[in-house]
Amino acid sequence: MDSSHFQVLRQSKIRWLINKTSEEWINLAIANPMEILLDHAHCERKAAGVALQLMFRYASEPGLSEVLSPLAREELEHFERVLSILSARGRKLEKLASPPYASILTKNICKDEPLRMLDSFLVAGLIEARSHERMQLLSKYSPDVELRDLYADLLKSEARHFGIYWKLADERFDKNILNSRLESLARVESDALVEMHQEPRMHS
Ligand SMILES: [Fe+2]
Ligand SMILES: [Fe+2]
Repeated sequence: MDSSHFQVLRQSKIRWLINKTSEEWINLAIANPMEILLDHAHCERKAAGVALQLMFRYASEPGLSEVLSPLAREELEHFERVLSILSARGRKLEKLASPPYASILTKNICKDEPLRMLDSFLVAGLIEARSHERMQLLSKYSPDVELRDLYADLLKSEARHFGIYWKLADERFDKNILNSRLESLARVESDALVEMHQEPRMHS
C-alpha cells in the first residue's frame, strides 16, 4: 500500500473518533476480503437491530420512530446487498465470532434513564462513525473493484446515519452533559481498538 496516500486519507477528520484506524488494520482487512465481507453482513444486520431495539424501547418518544424506521430499513438493504455479493461468491451468512468492540461499548452505557437513552444514541453514532471511516479506507485500498464500489456506495449512508444519531442526542440533551458523555464514550471506543483483535473484522 502507498503509505503517503494513507497519511493523506488519515487526515480527513471524522467528528467523534479520537484515534484514527491503524495501517495494520487496513492491511489485515485487505488481505482477508471474504472474512471482512462476512463480518460486514453481520454488522449491517446488527445495525438494523439496534435501530429497531431503540424504536421498541422508546416507542412513544416523539420524532424517534420517524427517523429510526427508515434507518433500519436502509441497514437491511445494505445487509441484502452484502448477502448477494457473498452468495455470488459462493458463500452464505456463516457464523463469525464477534470482536469485543461492541460489547465493550455496550457495557459502558449508563443503566439509568435518561442517560441510558443519550448513551445509546452516542454509542450507535460512534459505531456508525467508525464504520464510515473504515469503509472509506476499504473503498480506497481494496484491490477488488466490486468491493471498492460497494464500500464507496455504503459509506455515504453511514455518514448520514451517524448524523441521525447525533441529532437525536443533540435535540434532547443538555450540551454539557452530551459533551461529557461523548468524550467519555469516544475514549472507550478508541481504546477498544488500540489492541487490535487479530481476527479480521470491521471493528477489530
Ligand atoms: Fe449500513
Ligand atoms: Fe449505518
